[in-house]
Amino acid sequence: MSIVELNHPLISHKLTILRNKETGTKEFREIIGEISSILCYEAMKDAKLKDVEVDTPICKTFGKKLDEDKYAFVPILRAGTGMLDGLIHTMPNAKIGHIGMYRNEETLKPVKYYYKTPSDIQNREVIILDPMLATGGSGIDAITMLKESGAKNIKFLCIIAAPEGIEKMQAVHPDVDIYCATIDEKLNENGYIVPGLGDAGDRIFGTK
Ligand code: PRP
Ligand code: URA
Repeated sequence: MSIVELNHPLISHKLTILRNKETGTKEFREIIGEISSILCYEAMKDAKLKDVEVDTPICKTFGKKLDEDKYAFVPILRAGTGMLDGLIHTMPNAKIGHIGMYRNEETLKPVKYYYKTPSDIQNREVIILDPMLATGGSGIDAITMLKESGAKNIKFLCIIAAPEGIEKMQAVHPDVDIYCATIDEKLNENGYIVPGLGDAGDRIFGTK
């Protein structure tokens, strides 16, 4: 299992805008989408391609094509849909599943309320989307459910990961690679990532 952290000055710049509590919903949502799209490119670095013939305006040549039918995006509701909006253009034909979960604010344990994935999920590479990997509870349970449905090849994309969540996810699902924009310092006593960006769902949807 590996953890890939985007390391780029432009990502650091965008993360600072996300962290700023004065940043409005529109800009916040746009940047979540933008970074998610870059994470997706990174996660697809090992994608298998097939050779295809193509006619350019000049001549015949060979190009490479991705079989988009081999992939599924699975956002964890709600905040994960903010990532999906920004990266769906990278593979517009990928199928999409949804996992509904929220964290109980006292116990910090995830509560599941919805689960729907493509019927052939076992034949697809699954890319889970959730901006925050905090205690790791939501991500870990989502991966467990997908594995119970037969998914074998799973990647987890997030904007900010806490060391505590990474460690837990690596222990429970060592086969799942994590792609994040940054690894933050720690969790606070309420299970929020420090310095973090606050509640990702509330900031994407403007609910607070
Ligand atoms: C947030 C976030 C993750 C979860 C991370 O969702 O989007 O799903 O918390 O925390 P964990 O790693 O400790 O489980 P939240 O429960 O706030 O739900 P929302 O997306 O509906 O806002
Ligand atoms: N969920 C969030 O949205 N933010 C955090 O910092 C932790 C969990």
